Amino acid sequence: MIAICTHLGCIPGFRPVPGTADLGEDWPGGFFCPCHGSKFDLAGRVYKNVPAPSNLEVPSHHYAGASRLLIGVDAQT
Ligand code: FES
Repeated sequence: MIAICTHLGCIPGFRPVPGTADLGEDWPGGFFCPCHGSKFDLAGRVYKNVPAPSNLEVPSHHYAGASRLLIGVDAQT
C-alpha cells in the first residue's frame, strides 16, 4: 500500500503487533494513523468509525514472474 492516510494525508505507522497497550487488547495489528486515529488492517482496509473515508491506496503493480513483483507498473496487455 501507499502509506498516506486517506483522511488528510498523514503517514500511518505499521503496527503489526496485536494487543499493544496504547491501541488496546483488541487491536489485531495493522496500520495506525497518529494524526486523528484512523486504523487500517494489515491489508490496508479502513476500519469503521474512524476519520479516514477509504482504504489505503494500492499502487499499480505487475507480477513479472513467480518471484518478481514490479511496483508502479501495470500489467501489459
Ligand atoms: S490524517 Fe490520518 S486520521 Fe487524519
